[in-house]
Amino acid sequence: MIKIAPSLLSADFSKLAEELKDIEKAGADLVHLDIMDGHFVPNLTFGAPIIKALRAHTQLVFDAHLMVYNPENYIDVLAESGVEMLSFHVEVAPHADRIIHMIKDKGIKAGIVLNPGTPIQHIECLLPIIDYVLIMSVNPGFGGQKFITYTLDKISALRQLIMENNLSCLIEVDGGVNSQNVKEIIKAGADILVAGSAVFGQKDRKAAIDALR
Ligand code: DX5
Ligand code: ZN
Repeated sequence: MIKIAPSLLSADFSKLAEELKDIEKAGADLVHLDIMDGHFVPNLTFGAPIIKALRAHTQLVFDAHLMVYNPENYIDVLAESGVEMLSFHVEVAPHADRIIHMIKDKGIKAGIVLNPGTPIQHIECLLPIIDYVLIMSVNPGFGGQKFITYTLDKISALRQLIMENNLSCLIEVDGGVNSQNVKEIIKAGADILVAGSAVFGQKDRKAAIDALR
């Protein structure tokens, strides 16, 4: 079963609790929370205090995507904020194995993120210990960008690796996902689809999620 994770980045920031309730009612499986530090990516969003405040307003699984330097500094506060999935970029993590264990020790599912230009070989040895890989299909930092098509080959190659080694690691795809390209992304091997503008950018969120399904 494919899971749909609308990204809050494209929601109306003046009414986040209502926006969350809206996608929950519309049939979303998770909510994707993009945390940016203005350094690793040229943009800023929100952090643990806002996520914590939103936790009481929805039952949706909180899937946080760290686009920050020093991701290890955010684990404790995000665990306290009710995050259930937490991913960080391999490009900023020379000690990725340690960070994965820090996340798992909090009882949170651990994911590792690859920028479009980062080969999957960089995380191959980590596959047995992580819960999911997040393949970026746009350069991180902004919603509403165009899907980078060469990332489809990375998704297929990763799916192949997971199958060959009998692993349970899931594949999440983030960036430029829409109802036109969703079929080939799923065919390549995605399990979880992040969709910002394709869901929150639409007036009728149920129709938008149904279209993706
Ligand atoms: C980009 C973020 C994405 C973004 C996706 O840096 O990681 O999660 O919100 O937005 P769309 O679906 O509009 O590309
Ligand atoms: Zn994201």
